[in-house]
Amino acid sequence: MQTINQMKMEFSSVPENEGFARVAVSAFAVQLNPTLDVLADIKTAVSEAVTNAIVHGYGDRPGLVTVTAILGADGVLDIAVIDQGRGIADIAQAMQPFFTTQPEKERSGMGFSVMQTFMDEVTVESVPGQGTTVRMKKRLGSA
Ligand SMILES: Nc1ncnc2c1ncn2[C@@H]1O[C@H](COP(=O)(O)OP(=O)(O)O)[C@@H](O)[C@H]1O
Ligand SMILES: [Mg+2]
Repeated sequence: MQTINQMKMEFSSVPENEGFARVAVSAFAVQLNPTLDVLADIKTAVSEAVTNAIVHGYGDRPGLVTVTAILGADGVLDIAVIDQGRGIADIAQAMQPFFTTQPEKERSGMGFSVMQTFMDEVTVESVPGQGTTVRMKKRLGSA
């Protein structure tokens, strides 16, 4: 697929950057005039993925989160949220609704379910000890 536009950003693994990432991706997506509903879906999904990179990937350790977005000629926005944190041993289990490794922090275990609900496609690649890449696609309209 031909790329119409792309961006890449990298930021510290601190909670303050969750809001920064969702607004930045939304600002990038707006060029194809998506509906407010579609923009809200993207913001929500990016928030979940970036929060996961910060709280699960890195935990209390310092690190960098990378977010990329590629806009294809087909009008599909392809977003990746990448960390070099602890990784996920069992991806299928992690993606199950209500599964969380942090029940004591009252996490819902619904982050991946939210991403799958609000985006058209979600794929996860992860290597324990090396990090995680969450790729999400959303059709924005005709390019
Ligand atoms: N980037 C990540 N790095 C390491 N583990 C992750 C990452 N994202 C998700 N996980 C694991 O997958 C589980 C489920 O994630 P999620 O559905 O967002 O629920 P929650 O964040 O509420 O625990 C997490 O509890 C965690 O164990
Ligand atoms: Mg989560």
